Amino acid sequence: MYITALTARSFRNYDSLAVGFSPGVNIIVGANAQGKTNLLEAVHFLATGRSHRAGRDGELVKWGRDLAFLRGEVSSFGGSRSIEAQIPAAGRKSIKVDGTELRRLSDLFGIFQIVMFTPDDLQLIKGSPGLRRRYLDMQICQISPLYRHYLQRYNQVLRQRNKLLERREARSLPVWDEQLVRFGSAVIRYRLRAVEVLSPFTQRHYRAIAGEGEEMKLAYQPFWAREGEGPPWSEDDIQGLFREEIRRVREDELRRGQTLVGPQRDDLVFAIADRPAKSFASQGQQRSGVLACKLAELDYIQRESGEYPLLLLDDVASELDDERRERFFAGVPEGVQLLLTTTSLRPLMPILAHGQVFRIANGIIREGKGG
Ligand SMILES: Nc1ncnc2c1ncn2[C@@H]1O[C@H](COP(=O)(O)OP(=O)(O)OP(=O)(O)O)[C@@H](O)[C@H]1O
Ligand SMILES: [Mg+2]
Repeated sequence: MYITALTARSFRNYDSLAVGFSPGVNIIVGANAQGKTNLLEAVHFLATGRSHRAGRDGELVKWGRDLAFLRGEVSSFGGSRSIEAQIPAAGRKSIKVDGTELRRLSDLFGIFQIVMFTPDDLQLIKGSPGLRRRYLDMQICQISPLYRHYLQRYNQVLRQRNKLLERREARSLPVWDEQLVRFGSAVIRYRLRAVEVLSPFTQRHYRAIAGEGEEMKLAYQPFWAREGEGPPWSEDDIQGLFREEIRRVREDELRRGQTLVGPQRDDLVFAIADRPAKSFASQGQQRSGVLACKLAELDYIQRESGEYPLLLLDDVASELDDERRERFFAGVPEGVQLLLTTTSLRPLMPILAHGQVFRIANGIIREGKGG
C-alpha cells in the first residue's frame, strides 16, 4: 500500500503543498521547524482521521485561516483511492473517500494502512500502559472492522457504567455488567491473539537490531493477571474471570464511583533477557525494542491483510548509532513504501542512496538532492 500524491492547503505551516511520492524510499530533509513532522502528520491524518499529536483538530489549521484541506491518492492491490479531509478551525471535520463522505470516522480505518514511528514512541516500553494499549489497538483496528466495533461498544458501555457508578445507582448495574463482560472479553481476546502473532516478529527483529544473544519477549497482561501469569485463556476463562473480578470489586466501585475492571486496565509487558524491561532496560535496549515493535507492526499488518502498510519515520536516524541504524533499515521489508524525515542526509546516504529526496524549507517543498 502506498501514497502516490499528497495535496494540502492551509495545513499547519503549509500554505499550499502538492507533492508526488515514489513507491519506494522518500527522504524529507530540512532544518528544524520547517514542516517535516507536519507533512507526516498530514499523511497520518488521511490514514486515521486524526493527528498523532494534536489535542484538537483546530490546531492543524494554519494560523489565521478558517479551513484546512488535505487530499491523498492511495494505491493498493485493491486499486486506487482518493481520501480527502476538510478540517475547520472550529467545528466538525469531514472526510471523503472517492468523493463520498464517511458517516463514521471509524469507516476510514483499513483503507489506507500505516505504521508510524515518532521519537515519542521511545516511551513505549517505560511509559504508561495507555501507550502500549494504543500500540495494539492501532494495529488491530487497521485490520479488523469487528475489533473496531467491539472496542467502540465497550467504550460506550464503560462510559454509561461510570455514569451509573458516579450516581451510585447499584440497582441498574447488572445489565451493564453483562455488556461490559461481553464486549470487554472480546477486546481482550483480540488483543491476546494480536500479541501471539506479534511476539515472534518482535523477537526476530529485536535479535537483528540489538545483536544475537539477547531476547525480547512480549506478553499481554489482562487486568486480573499477576505478572508472569500467562495465557492461554479460553473465551470462557476470560468471561468467567471478568465476572469474578466484577463481583470482587463491587463495593470498591460504588465507593469510588468508577469502573475498576476491564481492558482499559490491561497492559502489554516487555521482557528483555527475561527481566521486566520497564524496570531494567537500558536506553539502547529500549530503542532497539521500540524499533523492533515498529517493524513487527509491518509484518503483523501484512500477515493479516495481505499487504504491507506505509511506514512513516519521524527523525529516526538521530535516535540511532550507525550500526543500529543500518540494522534497522535492513529489517524494513522490500517493497514497503517509506516516508522519513531527517535534518541531515549524511547519515542516511550510505543506506538509502536510492531514495527520492525532498527538501523542505519554511513550508515549501522541493524535489532533489541539491541544496
Ligand atoms: N497551525 C499552524 N499554523 C502555522 N504554523 C504552524 C501551525 N502549527 C505548527 N506550526 C509551525 O510549523 C513549523 C514546523 O513544524 P514541524 O513540527 O513540522 O517542524 P519540523 O520540520 O518537524 O522540525 P524538527 O526538526 O524540529 O522536528 C513550526 O515552526 C510550528 O510553529
Ligand atoms: Mg519534527
